[in-house]
Amino acid sequence: MPDQERVARSLELYRRAEALIPGRTQLISRRSSQFAHGNSPIYASRAKGARFIDVDENEYIDWVNAVGAVILGHADDAVDGAVKAQIDRGSIFTLNSALEIELAELLNEVIPSSEMARYTKGGGEANAAAARIARGATGRSLILFSGYHGWHDWYQSANYLVDPESGEFPFAGIEPIGVPSELAGTALPFVWGDLAELRALLRAHEGEVAAIMMEPMRSEPPPPGYLEGVQQLARIHGAVLIFDEVSCGFRPRIGGVQAYLGVTPDMTVLAKAMSNGYPMGAVVGSRAVMEPASRMFISSSYWSDNLGLAASLRTIRELERRNSAQRFEAIGRELINRLNQALREAGMAGSCGGMFWNPGIHLDLPEESLRPVANTIFIQEMARRGIHCNMSFKATLAHSLEDIERTADCAAEAFALIKSGLDSGDLQQLLESDLTKEPFRRLVR
Ligand SMILES: Cc1ncc(COP(=O)(O)O)c(C=O)c1O
Repeated sequence: MPDQERVARSLELYRRAEALIPGRTQLISRRSSQFAHGNSPIYASRAKGARFIDVDENEYIDWVNAVGAVILGHADDAVDGAVKAQIDRGSIFTLNSALEIELAELLNEVIPSSEMARYTKGGGEANAAAARIARGATGRSLILFSGYHGWHDWYQSANYLVDPESGEFPFAGIEPIGVPSELAGTALPFVWGDLAELRALLRAHEGEVAAIMMEPMRSEPPPPGYLEGVQQLARIHGAVLIFDEVSCGFRPRIGGVQAYLGVTPDMTVLAKAMSNGYPMGAVVGSRAVMEPASRMFISSSYWSDNLGLAASLRTIRELERRNSAQRFEAIGRELINRLNQALREAGMAGSCGGMFWNPGIHLDLPEESLRPVANTIFIQEMARRGIHCNMSFKATLAHSLEDIERTADCAAEAFALIKSGLDSGDLQQLLESDLTKEPFRRLVR
């Protein structure tokens, strides 16, 4: 069947969305331009375990998993059971919920930096709260950051420091329109892994820096001693060290990258995987940095919602019960091995590597300009074979050896096709989708 027909209903819904929803999706990573438009599914109708069914009734093995928010597997029985039981008791109360205290106690057990907690419903919001708390606790304004930290003004204002001609906005074509330009300079990016640059920034802004906020690790291990060096600099300069573990949390260890590497920040931002897909975010930290938040205006009706709290409590307990760290390591290593084997079988130059909780494929191409074409063909061919992925993979505990084998078999066919296109000098003619937009970039400079 021609693929436009295979995903016809998805394409039709996407067309309808254009007139109704600015930008068509709520999350930029869900735009079809991030995949192989014309071949990739755009709307799902149901999901279970490692798989989902799209609105055209095609089944896929899912390696995106709600951009990492699903960690146990879609519609996990244990978590959904806890949420359903909570619905019967009330999804939100007039009064406070005791679950808030129960979750704070559990986070104190599993997250090394946690002594007190505040909750939100998402990661960007939790980062905005963390920035407010750090500024309030230190009486300073400037935030140095490295990574992606959400859509709020405090962070997006840093885009004013980027030359628009360079195209270096976090998403191609997305600009800081609507963010007050007066905020430019109140948050400054630094390059992950470069301690000397951070040291120089701290010296240049002596006594002004409220916080160093960073994703501690994403696709590669930090240079030896780097995070310890950042921690020491934060202490010397009286800045709050915040790890944004929204994307890297829970998978390497339940305690996140800080537990995996043994470097404890003053504050940690959590969301996504903490509740297996139910809306939930948290800022946790030492008593010294968190306690001043009691005198700050940080307040919202739905942060006490019982469903996120119940989902999070059960998700974390299930991660413990299912030995998540060992299992993620086993799944990730198997996936990396099999995808490298698939590359070899296809005779395609490239490698699959990265951290076991977020492996990525890098194709070795004769020219860099071919990358968007080759990557889109890969995503397109995987979609046709019932695998939803981009060039990096986020596993859940529901992914089986069979899912990995099937993924690698499909990847071998996709790699062989790309190789044939490269050999014939006409890769482009294999492209039956719109080119994938440049992947999301973290703002670091
Ligand atoms: C490291 C990091 N911080 C913050 C966010 C924003 O979280 P949310 O999309 O829940 O607002 C994300 C989302 O991808 C993220 O990866």
